[in-house]
Amino acid sequence: MLAKVAKAALSSSSSSSAIIKGITVLGIESSCDDSCAALVRYPSGEILRDIRISQFDTHAPYGGIMPNLAVREHEKNMPLVLERCLHNLSSSSKPDLIAVSTGPGMKACLRVGMNHALRLGEQYNIPVLGINHLEAHTLVARRERVEFPYLCLLVSGGHSCVSLVLGPGHQQELGSTLDDAMGEAFDKVNRQLVGENVTLQQQHGGAALEQLAKQGKPLAALQLPVALRKAKSVKTLDFSFSGLKASTSRAIAKQEFAPADIALAFQTAAVQHCRIVVRNMLAAHPQVNTLVICGGVASNQALRTALSIEAARQNTQLCFPPPALCVDNGVMVAWAGAERYNAELPQHLVTKDTNPRARWPLSEL
Ligand code: KG4
Ligand code: ZN
Repeated sequence: MLAKVAKAALSSSSSSSAIIKGITVLGIESSCDDSCAALVRYPSGEILRDIRISQFDTHAPYGGIMPNLAVREHEKNMPLVLERCLHNLSSSSKPDLIAVSTGPGMKACLRVGMNHALRLGEQYNIPVLGINHLEAHTLVARRERVEFPYLCLLVSGGHSCVSLVLGPGHQQELGSTLDDAMGEAFDKVNRQLVGENVTLQQQHGGAALEQLAKQGKPLAALQLPVALRKAKSVKTLDFSFSGLKASTSRAIAKQEFAPADIALAFQTAAVQHCRIVVRNMLAAHPQVNTLVICGGVASNQALRTALSIEAARQNTQLCFPPPALCVDNGVMVAWAGAERYNAELPQHLVTKDTNPRARWPLSEL
C-alpha cells in the first residue's frame, strides 16, 4: 500500500527516527474556516509551499462560523489552494505522502479536504494518512527540534486542553475546558466590545481584543473573576471560560467602563486562568522540562509573557511555534503525517469509506 518512494526513504535497519533520505509531505487542512495546504520536507522541516485562504470575510457579518457557508467556501477555495501549492513542482519536490485532517471538526468541511486528498493520492500513487487536527497543533513544535516528552497547552477557537506528549500517536490529556474554548471566549467578548468600530471588526476576534486591551487601563473597580481559582487546592488542570464571559457581558451592559478597559480586564483574567493551569501542570510533572504552547491564542502576547515568567520560575523551557504555525495551517498537518509515518504507527489510512470525525479526543490517537 505504501508508495515505493516513501518506503525507500525509510532505513530498514534502525528504529524510530528511521528516515535517512527525507520525504516530502503534502498537508491538507479544512476542519474549520481556513482552506490550507502545505508541502513540507521531513525531517529537515523545510517548508516548500504554504498556502492558506481564510473565510473570515464570509462569516464576519454573522458573528460566527456558518457551517453551510464554510463548506461552500472550502469547495471554492480548496482547488485554488492546492493548485498554488502544487504547480510547477520540480521532480524532487513531488509529495511522497499526503496527510489530511480527518477530525475533530465540521464533518462536511473535513470531507472537502479528504476528497481532494484521495484524488491526489490516486494521481501521485501515494498513501493518504488521516490526521487528528489537535495532534497536528501539538506536534508542529517538533519542527523547532523540541524533544519528547513535553507538556503542551493547546488554546484555539475550538479547543482548550493540556496534555503530556510522549510521542506521535501517544498523548495523555491532562485537562480540558468544561465549557467554552479560550479563543471562542475571546471571539464572543470581542464581538460585544467592538460594536461599530470598523477597523477592529476587520480582524480576528482574539487579535482585535488584544489590540483593544493595549489601550486599556487596569482598574481596581473592574476586576473580573479568575475561573476555578477556588479549586487551586485540588490542582485542577481543567479550564472554564463561561463564568468570565458572563461577568464580562455584565460589565459591558453596565456601560460604566471604556471598552478598552474591559478588554484588558477580560484578557488579564483569562491569561491568569491559563497561568494557574500551567503552574499546576508543571508542578505535577517536575520530571518534564519542556512546555509547548500552541493553537491560535498562543499568538497572544500577554499570554506569552505570563507563561514565559511561569516557565522560568519552574525551570522549564518554553517553546511557541511561530504565529503562522499556531493558527490553523497545512504545515502542521504535513508535519504530523511525517512524524506518524516515521514512527511506523498503525496508520489511519484514508479510503473512500473513511468517515470524518466531529469529535476525536487526544487520548484516542
Ligand atoms: O488554531 P486556530 O486558528 O483555529 C482553531 O483550531 O480553532 O485558532 C483561532 C482562534 C480564534 O478564536 C482567534 O480569535 C484566536 O485563535 N486568536 C487569538 C489571537 N489570535 C488568534 N486569541 C487571543 N489573542 C490573539 N492574539
Ligand atoms: Zn486549530
